[in-house]
Amino acid sequence: MQYPGFSRPLRFFALLSGLIGHLWAPRVLAQYDQYKYAEARNGMVISAHPEASRIGREILLAGGTAFDAAVGVELALAVCFPVAGNIGGGGFSVIRTAKGEVFSIDYREQAPLRAHERLYQNAAGQVNDSLARMGALAVGVPGTPAGMQLLHQKLGTINLNQIMAPIIKMARQGFVLTAIDAQLLNDYKQKFKSVNKRPVPFVREDRPWKKGDTLRQPELARTLSAMSSGLVNGFYKGWVADSIAAEMARHGGLIRNEDLQSYSPKSRPVLSRPFKSPIDGKTYKLYSMAPPSSGGIILHQVLGMMQNIKPDVWRKNRNNQVWRIQQLVEAERLAYADRSRYLGDPDFVNVPVDRLLAPDYLKARYKAPYTANAVKSETVTPGLGAFDKKRDMKQTIGLDESEETTHYTVVDRWGNAVSNTTTQNGAFGSYLVVGGTGILLNNQMDDFSAKPGSYNSYNLLGATANAIQPGKRMLSSMTPTIITEVLPAKKNQQPEEKLFMTVGTPGGSTIPTSVIQTILNVLIDGQTPDQAVAKPRYHHQWMPDVIYHEPDAFDEVTKAALTAKGYELKERNMIGRVEAIILRPDGMITGGADPRGDDTCGFIK
Ligand code: DON
Repeated sequence: MQYPGFSRPLRFFALLSGLIGHLWAPRVLAQYDQYKYAEARNGMVISAHPEASRIGREILLAGGTAFDAAVGVELALAVCFPVAGNIGGGGFSVIRTAKGEVFSIDYREQAPLRAHERLYQNAAGQVNDSLARMGALAVGVPGTPAGMQLLHQKLGTINLNQIMAPIIKMARQGFVLTAIDAQLLNDYKQKFKSVNKRPVPFVREDRPWKKGDTLRQPELARTLSAMSSGLVNGFYKGWVADSIAAEMARHGGLIRNEDLQSYSPKSRPVLSRPFKSPIDGKTYKLYSMAPPSSGGIILHQVLGMMQNIKPDVWRKNRNNQVWRIQQLVEAERLAYADRSRYLGDPDFVNVPVDRLLAPDYLKARYKAPYTANAVKSETVTPGLGAFDKKRDMKQTIGLDESEETTHYTVVDRWGNAVSNTTTQNGAFGSYLVVGGTGILLNNQMDDFSAKPGSYNSYNLLGATANAIQPGKRMLSSMTPTIITEVLPAKKNQQPEEKLFMTVGTPGGSTIPTSVIQTILNVLIDGQTPDQAVAKPRYHHQWMPDVIYHEPDAFDEVTKAALTAKGYELKERNMIGRVEAIILRPDGMITGGADPRGDDTCGFIK
């Protein structure tokens, strides 16, 4: 039997050393196995780190549901994957119960009550980006503990203490670093040192971290213990909250106890739209995140536009790479133009979701099939009304976001499913660790427009939609998605839906386009989840007018053809780290973990 976690001989060693470690010595564990593809009948957990996948799997093995496992994986990632996993950040969870109810939890960070629109501008109106990216002023009010409590309260079946016991132990006793873990800690050492006055567990002074070292976080263990009888009480109240507020005050941050006490996660309806496969004619329903994420809107806009390509044209051109890239890029160009102007926190601004997703609107905007030269972004404007090119094109999103958010997904044996993306924004967030608690804080404030309204006499919506306001949530790109197959309706009955797929990824502004490509890899090309997540990716976001691509995404002939059509290409190292689960018709749960990192499936055969 395969055992996700450790190989058989090493398991014995791990058990033995674990036992010794309990008594006196540092625990030595073996290098983790990674399962990039797995098939199972009784449950699947996929995350970016083997320890988190192991912990999620153990929760399923102990009789927990996908919801219990998701809570465990989220909290485990805060310990073993501090580059993105968090309790000091936020995220979005898209959830489908075995009974077919679908909803989402928005536990996105929000601006502190003392924040304001010009927070990152000096008196002359110049933006100081680094204040929004590093240190105390970059921190939004964390949402993760409250979000996980809501999920657990609504749907959990296993006691929180039981879920958290192994996680607390991992924080206290340590876990063994993979080569990637070690490299990341070394890469960010100076950042940690420049932001923190006190020693932090992530910095090693005697020598660089290396694979096989153990990272222990005793202060975080103490915080997690305080949270194990109630995530909200343990984090947003009492000594942990006091420590966060004190750290903020010490470093010029804005979060105070009242910010922490007034935070609440939101249960939101998901955005769902159908997608009819032009290849086999089956209809799927895609459920994704509504604002304050732009993910669901971009996903449905792009796929909605592509539905206007006739099935026979699709079938004829399915293997024509240049044609495929053109159809996708041109849809992305249009969707990202709308994103930059209309999207923000719906509790603060009116986001015209229905108009943006109306089939007639998408059809009128997308002149497919595209076979001639590239459309130029400067000729494309957001689609719902007056637009001043000179003014509004400055309101774009950058590609300087780092690659550190994380997605995990769980499907249990009953058919409950969770697709969850969580983040501190940049790698290790703000780098600020709250004294005495081990909590790393996010730098999510950078997802607001730092200078909206700079041309505001004309700037009706776009720039202000994502402006900073007290208590507002910053616009995100996270796109946790669940897909069902819509079964043909029986006579006089509503069509039934069957769980088909879960998918999501990190990657800043590239998140929606990576999710879309993975879905097309499956629905158009019939790929298995491991193939679909591994396939090289590319990305266009209107501005800048460039197709970013991974090194192996295009062959030389394709590059030459695209260039000849006027597309500008730029190679990037890595785009996204996608996890996907597909339910096969025979009932098998099949999982694909992205080969770009330590991502692994934990599964129960
Ligand atoms: O919410 C967002 O869209 C960003 N804060 C996500 C950042 C991200 O994905 C960075 N790296 N992968």
